[in-house]
Amino acid sequence: MTAEIIDGIGQKQAAIDAAVAILKDGQPVAIPTETVYGLAADATNPAAITRIYETKGRPRFNPLICHMSDLAMAERHAKFDPISRKLAEKFWPGPLTLILPLKEDGRSIHPLATAGLDSVGIRVPKGFTADLIAALDRPLAAPSANTSGKISPTSARHVADDLGEKLPLIIDGGSAPVGVESTILRVEDGTIRLLRPGGLSVEDIEAATGLTVERREGPAAIIEAPGMLASHYAPGAAVRLDAIHVEPGEALIRLGGVAVEGIDKAKAVFDLSPSGDLAEAAANLFDYLKRADATGADRIAVTAIPQHGLGEAINDRLVRAAAPRE
Ligand code: TXA
Ligand code: MG
Repeated sequence: MTAEIIDGIGQKQAAIDAAVAILKDGQPVAIPTETVYGLAADATNPAAITRIYETKGRPRFNPLICHMSDLAMAERHAKFDPISRKLAEKFWPGPLTLILPLKEDGRSIHPLATAGLDSVGIRVPKGFTADLIAALDRPLAAPSANTSGKISPTSARHVADDLGEKLPLIIDGGSAPVGVESTILRVEDGTIRLLRPGGLSVEDIEAATGLTVERREGPAAIIEAPGMLASHYAPGAAVRLDAIHVEPGEALIRLGGVAVEGIDKAKAVFDLSPSGDLAEAAANLFDYLKRADATGADRIAVTAIPQHGLGEAINDRLVRAAAPRE
């Protein structure tokens, strides 16, 4: 099988019709979201969900995010406390996933999608995917559209290179504008807990709610979401963080044109954002990691990234990319 690629912008209705037909047939489809590309299946169909786990090589204990077309659809499946509802109203559609208790009568989401938990991760994405869900009129279970443990895809080409032989259809929605996965939050006893930093910054969440977001210790300690393995987002090359110099054989990823000793020795140099803008840096991160890897460098050196705004999500992904491999 080789995936057909349909332009989801120029041929939007044809793309939605094709995707709905394949999803109704119980097959997965790769879809553009504003964060990263997702590998989507009908969240109510166990055979379809099984195909997601098989295609990605993903452990079945790691639950999938269920994507909804709007808050009304989400409320049919999960119970909202007042803070979660406020977060949803403020930030949906967008790069925010809320972990919520499943409704007893909301069991149309198959337990394979939630790995049997009594909670569900819900996100309302922007753009093409929201329209696709509305057309299908069912939630879409969708993890990132990459082989488990690899870097998430931010373009249709990334998906095709990794999973193109295993999928019937990829919808091309252009470069994912956010570029890192959604921020995952769980509200417990009136406290907002950060399970995964992502495309919505903690500063924005705190400003909107007037509440302090509880983080876990250390940037690499966010392994609360079941199955979040330390070594994740791994390119083929090793990754070295907080670089201030370049060693022979290394490719360099930097930010804001920062001066780096020995830069002329680098196999290639990528700047996540020449102006130092962290949202632009997040949007480029996965593509530049893949490109740096494709230079054949033994190692990718990355300069320090500030730990505020989207820098928190960037550093989380970089720490995982640099983590010891099994
Ligand atoms: O931006 C995103 O979030 C992308 C796009 C496609 O929406 N999706 C994504 O999915 O990153 P995935 O499967 O790669 O990451 C989902 C994370 C996993 O770490 C999983 O453990 C966690 O969400 N998760 C899902 N349901 C959960 C639940 N009920 N409780 C705790 N964690 C959950
Ligand atoms: Mg993923």
